[in-house]
Amino acid sequence: MDDLVIEIREKLNKPIVLVGMMGCGKSHIGGALASYLDMPFYDSDAEVEAEQGQSIQAIFDAYGEGRFRDLEVNKIAELIGGETPSVISTGGGALMRSETLTLMKERAISVWIECDVDTIYERVKDDTARPLLQNEDPKGVLISLLERREGLYKQADVHVENTVQDTEVTLRRIGQEVLERL
Ligand code: S3P
Repeated sequence: MDDLVIEIREKLNKPIVLVGMMGCGKSHIGGALASYLDMPFYDSDAEVEAEQGQSIQAIFDAYGEGRFRDLEVNKIAELIGGETPSVISTGGGALMRSETLTLMKERAISVWIECDVDTIYERVKDDTARPLLQNEDPKGVLISLLERREGLYKQADVHVENTVQDTEVTLRRIGQEVLERL
């Protein structure tokens, strides 16, 4: 274990929460960060799916986006409320609920994983598992979602650019920036 990891593990007493647009690598970075820090990893989308026994697409289809947001806000509150060090990756729309934004500020260290819209589009354009993009203009949707959400993501404690994906570099940058805030 390197010195950075040892120091973070000694000082961290709350979860690290990853936020940002879909397709920016939150789940991938989150899993890698949790392994690097040797802490549990939770993905709020996967936790909602496991609890409901249904995919997010199926939840949207059957009950609508509002129901998914209720499930999401409750699940994130449960995960953040744990207070033990962990890494939590959230869905791209999680901060649209003010309760989640408040909780994130009060009880977690938050990290915005950012990348540009063209890169996101290339990564998600053929993905059928993201209900908000199942329409005629997925790129237009991405642009307008980002416009509405960027101000929320900016409120995260740490901001890391992940357009050029190099997991090792991104992990160390997150580690250093998190440590500075502990
Ligand atoms: C959403 C992002 C998805 C998922 C759901 C809604 C959004 O998560 O929660 O499809 O509103 O941006 P990812 O960001 O993990 O793709």
